[in-house]
Amino acid sequence: MFKKLNHELVEKNAGLLAVLSIVAISFGTLVEITPQLFLAETNTPMKNMKPITALEFEGRDIYIREGCVNCHSQMIRPFRHETERYGHYSLAGESVWDHPFLWGSKRTGPDLARVGGRYSDAWHEAHMIDPRAVVPESNMPGFPWLAENVLTGEQTAAKLSLFKDNFDVPYTDADIAGAQEAVKGKTELEALIAYLQSLGTNLK
Ligand code: HEC
Repeated sequence: MFKKLNHELVEKNAGLLAVLSIVAISFGTLVEITPQLFLAETNTPMKNMKPITALEFEGRDIYIREGCVNCHSQMIRPFRHETERYGHYSLAGESVWDHPFLWGSKRTGPDLARVGGRYSDAWHEAHMIDPRAVVPESNMPGFPWLAENVLTGEQTAAKLSLFKDNFDVPYTDADIAGAQEAVKGKTELEALIAYLQSLGTNLK
């Protein structure tokens, strides 16, 4: 009797139902997320992992600016049909220095988590300027302006310092001092390709 009454109360009261649903979902979320925050496996960088270089860092910013993440994920799931196509599934330790992470959730194009080394720089260059020049059926847009925009590297050192100070990414003083020189005069396309070629290579 007591049980039945309570149940009726919840079912007939939308406000109460909403509140209790939120409590239930929040509890589930906490149970799923809290252990992850403290597990070494999810917040320790992979052994021998190297931070991306100054030029790759600029490439990553271009990847974000151009919205590549809207069509490409960087997260290989542990399923056979994914690992056979893309390689070893993504490990948490590989992306501890990614801020923001670029796992994405949309795959209009293929996953890029391990695209590093799969194609030559020349292939990427042709593909980024006009995807249909190398993949006739492609519906990826071209990004020809990247080949014309030249980087000054004015902000690069500041970006590396920011990641070093706030996210414990182990850039050395030499990395930071040489950041502008490493980037200055390179095109945005060169930076983006350098970034693409670095993806997933920490596991190899
Ligand atoms: C509108 C969706 C869309 C956007 C935006 C997009 N791509 Fe693509 N991309 C695709 C599709 C579809 C393919 C598969 C056909 C091809 O290779 O061109 C692809 C393929 C690729 C490949 C080859 C991957 C492989 O394993 O064969 C790379 C590398 C790539 N894209 C990089 C980029 C980068 C970098 C950006 C941002 C500057 C970008 N894409 C933006 C849709 C997109």
